[in-house]
Amino acid sequence: MASAKLQFDGKEYELPTVVGSEGEVGIDISKLRAQSKGITLDPGYGNTGSCTSGITFIDGEKGILRYRGYPIEAIAEEATFSEISYLLLNGDLPTASELEEFDEGLTYHSMLHEDMKKFFEGYPPTAHPMAILSSMVASLSSYYPGANLEANLDLNITRLLAKAITIAAFSYKKSIGQPFMYPRNDLSYTARFLNMMFAVPAEPYEVNPVLERALNMLLILHADHEQNCSTSTVRMVGSSGANIYASIAAGICALWGPLHGGANQKVIEMLRMIQDDGGGYQKFVDKAKDKDDNFRLMGFGHRVYKNFDPRARILKKAADDVLEELGIDDPLLEIAKNLERVALEDEYFVERRLYPNVDFYSGIIYSAMGIPVNMFTVMFALGRMPGWLAHWKELRRDPSARINRPRQIYVGATEREFVPLAER
Ligand code: ACO
Repeated sequence: MASAKLQFDGKEYELPTVVGSEGEVGIDISKLRAQSKGITLDPGYGNTGSCTSGITFIDGEKGILRYRGYPIEAIAEEATFSEISYLLLNGDLPTASELEEFDEGLTYHSMLHEDMKKFFEGYPPTAHPMAILSSMVASLSSYYPGANLEANLDLNITRLLAKAITIAAFSYKKSIGQPFMYPRNDLSYTARFLNMMFAVPAEPYEVNPVLERALNMLLILHADHEQNCSTSTVRMVGSSGANIYASIAAGICALWGPLHGGANQKVIEMLRMIQDDGGGYQKFVDKAKDKDDNFRLMGFGHRVYKNFDPRARILKKAADDVLEELGIDDPLLEIAKNLERVALEDEYFVERRLYPNVDFYSGIIYSAMGIPVNMFTVMFALGRMPGWLAHWKELRRDPSARINRPRQIYVGATEREFVPLAER
């Protein structure tokens, strides 16, 4: 591929290009400042590649998403989450024995140190489970101080994946005042989570296979999405040499925001608002279009997808299937479908190519599974965990990786004289 040429201040600079395996082109500006004193300015990084990566491919124009080359549609229904976690972390699908060994690790490391239970006691019952998850994950680093050593890398990846579901379920039990259910070794990863969430000591609990299948699919659909806000945060923090627990805790915090993973909670709140209002869909679509109103259609729009988010397509169908299998009639599903229809017929949404994203239908399935609304973003975090870990690992193995340190264009006051307080 030919190099790019940049003309600036009477000079011409030749910039090398990098071509990815799917033909994507990057113009390498890493030497630009040294040569020209100029930097590139790209607020929100919409046009900036921060790394090369071999984990996930997205073509937002065509609505394509592939993990390690496998189309999301092919794996969402058939695979298990632990299989896809292995794929993301190791590059290829596991053989039966590799998966058995991987699952054994996820089982063996699923308990928390007993002292960590005391942390949960300190939170108010109203604490948002994302606050608990992020601080508990950061706290794990105090129990595993050697986590940053190369020899311990895979072990700590397994630990974090294994313990994340225990922390998440304990935070839910704490919020409803029920005793913690310890992880059961005879269950699969997803069944173990459901058991810790919904079992109580007083009576037997059987994991419903419909819930387990739905959970596998939901977690797989969230498992990676290349350089999104939270994954970039994990890489940013990891680039300083911070340990794996600290890096992932930072990613969890980034995910929490309503423009990112927090949108799934906001979607349900919005659908309930539409239901309570009873005033029709156009009113809310108009509100979302009004630039003087900060209301947006939550679960709509995406930085990368300018076509249907393939995950939303799968989830829309799954919402119908799962609700039917569970015998649930949730009026919010009908409201969501109607809102989607009205928005997609509206010129504003058509022009801007705003489609439903992964968060639009996921909450309806979570609700049908009995997962409370304030746990939705935690569910997203559990799904995204292998993706974050795979990126952290890729970064650690990348010989060209440097500390992430963007530049800025300073627009503040120029030098001025300090006046002591008494003279001001
Ligand atoms: N409702 C109404 N208008 C919207 C919406 C929306 N949901 N999303 C984007 N727009 C409009 C913007 O106002 C803007 O209009 P303009 O060109 O007239 O100024 C245009 O579409 C482009 O939007 P940006 O905000 O510039 O796009 P950006 O790529 O920065 O943001 C984002 C993407 C954050 C996802 C945005 O679409 C949004 O806020 N959506 C709602 C929140 C949401 O669902 N987030 C989850 C995203 S998926 C994920 O993280 C898992």
